[in-house]
Amino acid sequence: MIISIVNQKGGTGKTTTAINLATYLAFLGKDVLLIDLDPQANTTSGFGFRPSELNKNIYRVLTKQININEAIIPTKQQKLKLIPSTPDLSGANVELINLERREYYLADLLVEVDKLYDFIIIDCPPSLGLLTICGLVAAEQLLIPVQTEYYALEGLGQLLTTINLIKQDIKPDLKVLGSILTMYDRRSKLSREVWQELYQNFPYYVFRTIIPRSVRLAEAPSFGQSILEYAPKSSGARAYQRLSKEVLFITNN
Ligand SMILES: Nc1ncnc2c1ncn2[C@@H]1O[C@H](COP(=O)(O)OP(=O)(O)OP(=O)(O)O)[C@@H](O)[C@H]1O
Ligand SMILES: [Mg+2]
Repeated sequence: MIISIVNQKGGTGKTTTAINLATYLAFLGKDVLLIDLDPQANTTSGFGFRPSELNKNIYRVLTKQININEAIIPTKQQKLKLIPSTPDLSGANVELINLERREYYLADLLVEVDKLYDFIIIDCPPSLGLLTICGLVAAEQLLIPVQTEYYALEGLGQLLTTINLIKQDIKPDLKVLGSILTMYDRRSKLSREVWQELYQNFPYYVFRTIIPRSVRLAEAPSFGQSILEYAPKSSGARAYQRLSKEVLFITNN
């Protein structure tokens, strides 16, 4: 199953969710491939890799310099593999723009590896540009992290409109797995209000799991570690473990 993690809004917890969901799915015994599709390469550095020093990366795959199988690297988590990103990927937007079937570019490449994994998780950049469109078209399911903040739902309409256009024009069977509330503060009234608003207005599933605001989650990437390695007993770790179980449950895996 291919799941893209999307929200064109910056800093909503896409990368944190990509790293830790992928890690826990692998920890629970699934074969997982994580693809960093963001030129910021935060997922790549979150595993302790230096993006500019790797010559195996998604940019070189998209520009046909290497085969997708050659770009897959192991992580410390057995069963979890990574295709890294690089800042060069920002150029892919321009390089791919004139190609035929450019929206299908990643989808076509994934056909080769799809069967080898239980889950392919794609961390998309914070825009609705060509890379994200490629990420949407490649996906079977979409996971939308929503940050618990005042304007949380702003921009979700635009995202859902884009998703509907892709369903209409390109991929009728694209599904929204659900939205997941991140950086939730139990003590704040605003957090409860945002949850209620999302729950009442979001037209698809809202995950029962809520990701709390946790310093441990923010610290882990600077040590190149997932939350499972860095602070497995923390509230953030427990939340991402619950989220991965909920994903397994609702996808019948
Ligand atoms: N639950 C959390 N608690 C505390 N800090 C968090 C949490 N989730 C994410 N963060 C921090 O918030 C910032 C944004 O998170 P993250 O990078 O996951 O978002 P993103 O949506 O991938 O951002 P971008 O849109 O730039 O790709 C990061 O510094 C991250 O460490
Ligand atoms: Mg990110």
